[in-house]
Formats: sequence, C-alpha cells, structure tokens
Amino acid sequence: MSQRPRLAPSLLAADFASLGSETRAMEAAGADLIHVDVMDGHFVPELTFGPAVVRALRPHTRLPLDVHLMVEPAEAAVEAFAAAGADLITVHVEACPHLDRTLRRIRELGKKAGVALNPGTSENLLEPTLGICDLVLVMTVNPGYGGQTFLTDQVRKIGALRERIDARSLPVELSVDGGVNPDTAPLAIDAGADILVAGAAAFRGGPERYRGNLDGLRPGGSTA
Ligand code: DX5
Ligand code: ZN
Repeated sequence: MSQRPRLAPSLLAADFASLGSETRAMEAAGADLIHVDVMDGHFVPELTFGPAVVRALRPHTRLPLDVHLMVEPAEAAVEAFAAAGADLITVHVEACPHLDRTLRRIRELGKKAGVALNPGTSENLLEPTLGICDLVLVMTVNPGYGGQTFLTDQVRKIGALRERIDARSLPVELSVDGGVNPDTAPLAIDAGADILVAGAAAFRGGPERYRGNLDGLRPGGSTA
C-alpha cells in the first residue's frame, strides 16, 4: 500500500489563459505528473483540450503528461495525443468497444496505457485486460466537471482493484480521480491508490499556495 502517493494536478482547474506557467508552477510545487483532462462534448458535455494543447505544454515540463481521454470513440484519438507528447494515455472502458486493441495500440505507440472506469462501471470489466495496461483510473465522480463531491461508495472499488493487482503482482498503477481533497485523500490512499488526481484542491488559492495544497494531500501533510 502506498505511503507516499504520487500527485497529478489536473489542469482542468488551472488558469486556461496561462497553462504553461501553471504547469511549471505545479512542477516546482512538487507535482509528480500533470493530468490533462480531454473532453469531447460527446462522451462528456464539455470541450477542453486537443492534441495541439498537449504539444504546446510539452516543452514546459519534464513531468509525465497524464492524458485522460473522455472521448468516444477513444481509439481514433490515441495516435494524435501520442504524437503530441503524451506519456500516459488513459481511455474509458465505456468508450472502447475494442479495449484490448486500444490498449495494445497505445503501447505500440510507445506510451503507457491506462483504462478509466466510471462510477457506474464494474471493475470486473477490466479482468481480461488488467495484464496489458499500465494504469487503472478509478473515477470517484461522474466525469465531465471539476469541483464535484468525492463518491465514497467508490472506495470499495479502489480496494478491490488493489487486491486484484497485488494478487497477480501486476505492474499496474492505481489512480483515483475526482473530488480528491485533504479529507478524501486518506480514503483513497488507505484503499490502495498509488496516484491521486486533484483539480480544485491542487489549484485553489493560486501559485503561492500550490506546494501547501499538494502537501495537504499527502499522508501527514498540512493544508497550511
Ligand atoms: C473530471 C476530471 C477530473 C477533474 C478532477 O471529469 O476527470 O480529472 O479535473 O477535478 P476535481 O479534483 O476538482 O474533482
Ligand atoms: Zn481526469
């Protein structure tokens, strides 16, 4: 079980007019990955970033770009985000009729392959592909918006996936996304999360608060 989760601030809560400096500020504040929420106006209602934004961000950080595709169909988008400089590409199981092929395709492109589960989706759907992915993303809100409330009934799913990953000794990272804040982070960590994605809780208060915000998400951290 993780003692020190890796933290992935979500640019969805950043100042969109200053994405380069926001990314640099989060790296300086101790972030481990930069989470990029791609919304297509179809799988989820909002529209956010395309591959051109990922390409523009790439020179601003050495951290891995953790691209979360809320896009349907997902497979058609994978190649463009890989070419743009994503390091990790996560697709939704609900948006992938050919999940096995999509995950293999991401790996063929030289990227780490992640698979995300909506709150209403069972972890059982991942059983056949757990061995060919690098990350599982458990959504603890229904995707589409930042600043929503953490769904505590998803904690069981985090724990179930932790058990399955450990039982098979798989090199799969377990990430949790949605409503993560200093109160809910311990629930995700205790259930076995390796990575915490945080939007509102990471970016609140502006750049001078980022280090304190991130420390507040770590075990024993403070929100000062
Ligand atoms: C939701 C996104 C999340 C979101 C998290 O659709 O996938 O990454 O930005 O934001 P908070 O932490 O504010 O819930
Ligand atoms: Zn996300």
